[in-house]
Formats: sequence, structure tokens, C-alpha cells
Amino acid sequence: MRTVTIGLLGCGTVGQAVLQLLQRREAIFADLGVQLSVCGVLVRDLTQARDVPAGTPFTGDPAFLGECSIVVELMGGVDRPLGLLAPVLRSKRPVVTANKAMLAERWDTLREYALGGQLYYESAVMAGTPIIGPMSTVLRASRFVRLQAVLNGTCAYILSQMESGKPYVQALAEAQALGYAETPPTLDVGGFDTAHKLAVLARFCADGDFRYGDVKVTGIEGVTLDDIAAAKAAGEKIKLVATLERDGDGWRAEVAPTRLPDSHPICTAGEGRNAMVYQGEECGELVFAGGGAGGLVTASAVVGDIMDCVLGFPGHVPLH
Ligand code: NAP
Ligand code: HSE
Repeated sequence: MRTVTIGLLGCGTVGQAVLQLLQRREAIFADLGVQLSVCGVLVRDLTQARDVPAGTPFTGDPAFLGECSIVVELMGGVDRPLGLLAPVLRSKRPVVTANKAMLAERWDTLREYALGGQLYYESAVMAGTPIIGPMSTVLRASRFVRLQAVLNGTCAYILSQMESGKPYVQALAEAQALGYAETPPTLDVGGFDTAHKLAVLARFCADGDFRYGDVKVTGIEGVTLDDIAAAKAAGEKIKLVATLERDGDGWRAEVAPTRLPDSHPICTAGEGRNAMVYQGEECGELVFAGGGAGGLVTASAVVGDIMDCVLGFPGHVPLH
């Protein structure tokens, strides 16, 4: 049995769920001949009670990062996590992250490590619903045409609750209580989190160096109960939709509230769920749908990435 040391940055909604799931899956790692050892968990507030296995080594000092063989980043933000991860990446160790903001906005720094297979980030888009895996592997054989997707669980939840007449502010507070929202939630409701995710996806199917700033973004703050009722009367729903498609020699990437017929696969995917309709010339139209936010659903993809890593599979490699 070999011991693999893991360092965790952050232990909030996702971090706690990852520690719980790693404990539940000990036997699978043992079958792979691996015993995982968590050598440090970086948090800000060392006094906070957390729902994690006994003996979890919390610390406010990131020095443990020098010792662990895999680093799992679940703290959020952009420059702070990048500053902590840069030495890890330079030392050629693998990083697992759910942080789409950092991936989208600091690609100039991260791209070379992603190309080298050192970065694992299935959980960064659609949480536990696997989409980066297929887009970084089998789907590349088919010429990409277009994708349309709901990629933000907070907005999906808010809009579905507003369909039954709940006020926007109350629905947002519930999404925050469920652990879906970013800090601050403007990232969600302003459409920026969806744009981050669209930029990450575009690098697998459109342009390996796709710029986050090239996504046109409109959020859901202006959507009213009246708008939703008008759509409903016409047999439609309002969703925050990310679209990526060919536009001449380039790409059109946009995030905006959009009316879709009730029969559209994004609407039939179910209330509050993430969903994607992916079109490739040879693979045809594919639909992916599932949970897109929350502790355990995200942890399932993080732990899946850790398994791939210990098995020696490369991380998610974008287009060259
Ligand atoms: P969260 O609940 O806010 O947890 C963040 C954790 O990071 C907390 O434990 C916090 O410490 C720690 N942290 C933040 N800044 C820190 C700093 N400067 N130094 C030390 N520790 C710091 O966030 P989350 O919902 O788990 O999300 C984590 C990441 O996963 C984000 O990148 C998010 O976008 C991504 N993600 C989240 C979801 C989801 O559904 N929540 C899904 C997919 C991806 P304290 O606890 O001490 O404050
Ligand atoms: N805040 C994000 C969302 C978390 O609501 O989708 C998952 O990426």
C-alpha cells in the first residue's frame, strides 16, 4: 500500500463534503493500493465547527503545501489561490480545483500546466455532472458546432422558484442557504460565474486560449415575476443560458436570460438543474443534465479527479 498525501485549501461547503466522501471511499482507494493521508487543511477561522472526520489537521499556515503530493483547491477567489498553487504547479505536482473563476481569469498562467496534464477540474463546470471529461476526450473527434447550457445552479434555482411566484430576494437567500451561491452572489446572478464556466468549456471545443473577456454577459437581476409569468403563459421558461457557436471565422459566446419552450431539453432536464445541449457534426446532438451545485454533488467530481490522479491519468488537457 502506498501513501499519498493530500493538502486541502478551503473547507467550506465543498471542502467538508470532499473530506466526508474521501472517508466513505477509503475502500476504493485501498483497492487501488493507495492510502490517502490528509496532511493539512487551510482555513481562515480555526474556531469554526465543521462536519468532517475527527482529527482533520486544520491550519492557518499553508506551509504543509510544501510536503503534500496532491493539492486540492476549494477556497475560491482568484489571486490568493493562484499564489498558493503556483509553487505547487512549478514543482510539477498535480492540482485538483473546482475554481472556475481562477481558471477563467488566470489562464495565461495556468494554461501551460493544463496542457501538461497537471490540472484536474471536472468539478469546476456543472459540479458532479461530467462534462469536462467528455469534452476533453471523446467529443474532440467530432467537429464542434454549438452548445447551449444552463451552468449556474444558483440562477437555475432562483428562476425555478420564481416560476411558482417566490420573490427573487427570497429565492436568492434560499440558494445561499443551500450552499449553491458564490461569495459574493453577484458572481452568480450577474452571470459572471456562468461566463467563467463557458470560457473554461470553450477551451476544449473552440479555442484553447479562449479569453474570458470575450464572453458577453447579462445576468438575471432584471428578470421580474411578470417576465416569468408572461413566458409561462406562452408555454416557455426563462433560463440563464450560455451559448457558444461559430460566428464567421470566430466564435460568439454569450450569457443571457433567454426564453425557451417548455419542451426544450434544457427545460425538460428538471427544475433547478444544470443542462447542456451539445452539437457536434458527427456526434450529433447530445444532452447532459444533472446537479450543478452543492456540497456532495461537487465533491463527487473532486474525488473522481483525485482517483484519476492517483491512477496516473492526466488532468483535463485543453486544445493546443
Ligand atoms: P465556501 O463554502 O465559501 O468555502 C471556502 C473555504 O475556503 C472556507 O473554508 C474558507 O475558510 C476558505 N478560505 C477562503 N479564503 C481563504 C483564505 N484567504 N485563506 C484561507 N482559507 C480561505 O466555498 P465553497 O462553496 O465550498 O466553494 C469553494 C470553491 O468551489 C469555489 O471556487 C467555488 O466556486 C467552487 N465550487 C463551488 C460549488 C458549490 O456548489 N458550492 C460547486 C462547484 C464549484 P473559512 O471556512 O475559515 O472561512
Ligand atoms: N455558485 C455556483 C452555482 C456553484 O450556483 O452554480 C457551482 O459552480
